[in-house]
Amino acid sequence: VAPLKVGIAGLGTVGAEVVRLIETQARVLAGRSGRGIRVVAVTARSKAKKRDVDLRGVEWARDPMALATHPGIDCFVELMGGASDPALSAVEAALNAGKSVVTANKALLAKHGIKLAKSAEKHGGALNFEAAVGAAIPVIKTLREGLAGTGVNRVYGILNGTCNYILTRMEQEGLSFAECLKDAQRLGYAEANPSFDVDGHDTAQKLAILASLAFGTKVAQSAVYVEGISSIAPEDLRAASDLGYRVKLLGVAVRTAKGIEQRVHPTMVPKSSSIAQVMGVTNAVTIDGEGIPPITLVGPGAGGAATASAVVADIADVARGIRANPFGRPIAQLRDTKKAPMERH
Ligand code: NDP
Ligand code: HSE
Repeated sequence: VAPLKVGIAGLGTVGAEVVRLIETQARVLAGRSGRGIRVVAVTARSKAKKRDVDLRGVEWARDPMALATHPGIDCFVELMGGASDPALSAVEAALNAGKSVVTANKALLAKHGIKLAKSAEKHGGALNFEAAVGAAIPVIKTLREGLAGTGVNRVYGILNGTCNYILTRMEQEGLSFAECLKDAQRLGYAEANPSFDVDGHDTAQKLAILASLAFGTKVAQSAVYVEGISSIAPEDLRAASDLGYRVKLLGVAVRTAKGIEQRVHPTMVPKSSSIAQVMGVTNAVTIDGEGIPPITLVGPGAGGAATASAVVADIADVARGIRANPFGRPIAQLRDTKKAPMERH
C-alpha cells in the first residue's frame, strides 16, 4: 500500500513535534495504520528560521495555499493557528480538493467549523481535530464515538492549560500573574496571542466544540458567556484558600429545558473536590451521560508533545481510511444552538 503523503503548514511548538513524532514512531504508525506515513512537504512563515527538526528530503512549499492544493499530498495538516487566513483559505482549499485535513486550531473550528465540515462532507475528505480540545486527551473521540449511543446532559471542565498553570503557580508559589504567564509562553502552552487564553476565549472555543458534539447542535462560540482570569491576584487565591476553596477557570455546557447554556468563568471549587486536584497544565473534562455515572478524562492539556500526540493519531486515522462526521452527525442533522439563560448548577 502506498504511504499516506502528508503536508504540514506550521512548524512551531506543535508542528515541529509532529514532524519528529512521525519520524520516531514510523514503525509503530505503519503497523497500526497498515501503511507508512510520510511528510513530503512543509511550510511556515520563515524558511530561514533555524528549527530543531530534520527536514532533509522534505519539500518547502511556497505558502500554505500552495501546500494545501499540492498534488503530491493526501493529507493537509494545519498547525499555524488563527480563525482567518491563511489557515481558513488553506483548510478550505485542501477540503475542496478532496484532501483530508488534520488541525489543532480550535479558533478556526469554533468560528468556521460547520462550513468546513460541509466542505469535507461534500468532497469526501476527513476533517480531524482531536488536538483542538484537551491536547492529548481523547475527548473528541470519547464524545463522538465512545458515547455515540448515549445522551449527554452536561460537559464541563478545565480546558485551558495556560490558565490552570498560572492559577496553580500563583496559588502554590505566590508568584505574580505576569510572571506565570511568561513561563507558560516560554513552555509553549500559550496561544500566539495569550489574551485568548487568559481572557477565556480559548476555553470558550473548546467548549463550543464540545457542546456541538455533546448535544448535536451547531458550534456557536457567540452563545458562550466568557470571563477570564486576568484580573485575579494572588490575594484572591489566598482568600479563597482560607475559605477552603481553590479558583479554577471552568467551561460548562448544560442542556436545559430552555436550550443550551454555555459559560466560561473563574469558579471557586471546594479543595476536597476532584477538580480542585487538577494542577498545572493538566486539563480535565467531565461528561454527564444519561443513565451512566459521569466520565472524567484527565491529562496534559497543552504543550508540543501532548498536542502532537493527538495530531499524529488523527493522521493515523486518515491513513487507515477512517472518516467520521466531524461533529458526530451529518451537518444537515445538526440543530441550531438555542441559547439558555445562565442558572446555578
Ligand atoms: P506556534 O506559534 O508555535 O507556531 C505557529 C507556526 O505557524 C509557526 O511555524 C509559524 O511560522 C507558522 N505560521 C504562522 N503564520 C503563518 C503564515 N501566515 N504562513 C505560514 N506559516 C505561518 O503555534 P503552536 O504550534 O503553539 O500552535 C499551532 C496550532 O495548534 C494553533 O492553532 C494552536 O491553537 C494549536 N494548539 C496549540 C497547543 C499548544 O500547546 N501549543 C495545544 C493545542 C492546540 P514561523 O515558525 O516561521 O514563525
Ligand atoms: N493555549 C492552549 C492552552 C493550548 O493553554 O490550553 C492548548 O489548546
